[in-house]
Amino acid sequence: MKIAVVGTGYVGLVTGTCFAETGNTVICVDIDINKVNKLKNGEITIYEPGLEKLFLRNLKEERLQFTTDLAAGVQDAEIIFLALPTPPGEDGSADLKYILGVAEDLGKIMTDYKVLIDKSTVPVGTAEKVHAAVRKNFKGEFDVVSNPEFLREGVAVDDFMKPDRVVIGTNSDRARKLMGDLYAPFVRQGNPVIFMDERSAELTKYAANSFLATKISFMNEIARLCELLNADVDMVRRGIGSDERIGKRFLFPGIGYGGSCFPKDVQALVKSSTEVNYEFKILEAVMDVNEAQKLHLMPKIKSYFKDNLKGKHFALWGLAFKPNTDDIREAPALYMIDALVEAGATVSAFDPEAMPNVKKVIGDKITYTENQYAALQNADALIIATEWNEFRTPDFLKIVSTLKNKAIFDGRNLFDVAAIRDLGFHYESVGRISVK
Ligand SMILES: NC(=O)c1ccc[n+]([C@@H]2O[C@H](COP(=O)([O-])OP(=O)(O)OC[C@H]3O[C@@H](n4cnc5c(N)ncnc54)[C@H](O)[C@@H]3O)[C@@H](O)[C@H]2O)c1
Repeated sequence: MKIAVVGTGYVGLVTGTCFAETGNTVICVDIDINKVNKLKNGEITIYEPGLEKLFLRNLKEERLQFTTDLAAGVQDAEIIFLALPTPPGEDGSADLKYILGVAEDLGKIMTDYKVLIDKSTVPVGTAEKVHAAVRKNFKGEFDVVSNPEFLREGVAVDDFMKPDRVVIGTNSDRARKLMGDLYAPFVRQGNPVIFMDERSAELTKYAANSFLATKISFMNEIARLCELLNADVDMVRRGIGSDERIGKRFLFPGIGYGGSCFPKDVQALVKSSTEVNYEFKILEAVMDVNEAQKLHLMPKIKSYFKDNLKGKHFALWGLAFKPNTDDIREAPALYMIDALVEAGATVSAFDPEAMPNVKKVIGDKITYTENQYAALQNADALIIATEWNEFRTPDFLKIVSTLKNKAIFDGRNLFDVAAIRDLGFHYESVGRISVK
């Protein structure tokens, strides 16, 4: 099949590459000329495990191409994915200007039947708006499908190639057949392709992300309670997770959820609810809890340093909002940095992939080091903000010999509390009995 993907970010590049991998011809369109030039030259623009190999293979086979020219990109395509940003507007609702702008442009360009697919996360009713935007300038036949994406950064290729489910919102038989054929190679093991109407598909994506964010905030509150009641959240987590109705996954407390999806999607669903006069109370609490959780380590750090962080220097391990990605959007580490600097401290940070992106946003507000141990030089304590695997079993002797104080504040519960206490560390984590 001939496919165009408009928007070549985390979702668009994975989508385009994976569809090329199953033999389709894919042209990815982006307005960012630097990005397109890099991609054309075989330089991958995001860090995503397993993606580069597929990207290079399909680029070489010419099944995957890149352009900034929308008209040229979609000319031969029957299927056009919109993988465009839907950032929060000032009032928290999803800003549809990118999607509707491209839809209007497509209406001017289209001359024959095409299926436009909303892959971006968009509020209920967007498919109808996209339809109207195209219809302004194009009188022929076309369909708009809602096909929300559930991939997780860090395992995006696996998620795309073997999705738990594919959700397709359409009432058109023609589009339904095309979409079914397109996704068939990805669901050979029998995972469901769930067809539904456009509105339900749009809401499914927000419901999924909001539910997951709720699970995280719930566990973060249980962790806070554990600290106050002298209980251990690891035990509670294991105790509840073996109940199949609850499940073992997504029960790990930490310093809050971040990323480009959960924060904006929860906010957008609250806003959509308000617009139909419904107060989504649980989600409002989920957002409040998450805001507070991002700085959960700060009182612990302040108390250790007797409320005076002026002139203190901290090593920070982890900047990305989660491991295996270079994405720093809404990363809790950035909130920590702000709070530390505001309190008069300085920070040296290491992250295996995210440092260039952080540098673009906050520049020299902190220093960046070549490896995790270099960040410890002259530091008064170590703070951990992202659970990269390489932080899990570090060389503790090196940490002891470099840090000024044997103090670790761990926002991701990486270490065994008893073992690290035996090494003589002052160790504080989230929801565990850390300090005697
Ligand atoms: N990142 C994720 O993990 C994820 C997962 C599921 C769904 N989503 C949703 O997918 C959508 C895209 O997210 P993302 O993380 O890939 O965003 P992104 O910011 O990484 O990528 C968006 C791309 O669109 C390009 N773009 C902007 N305007 C354009 C235009 N007019 N024409 C062509 N290209 C244009 C940008 O240059 C950028 O490359 C969002 O709605 C997001 O909520 C994201």
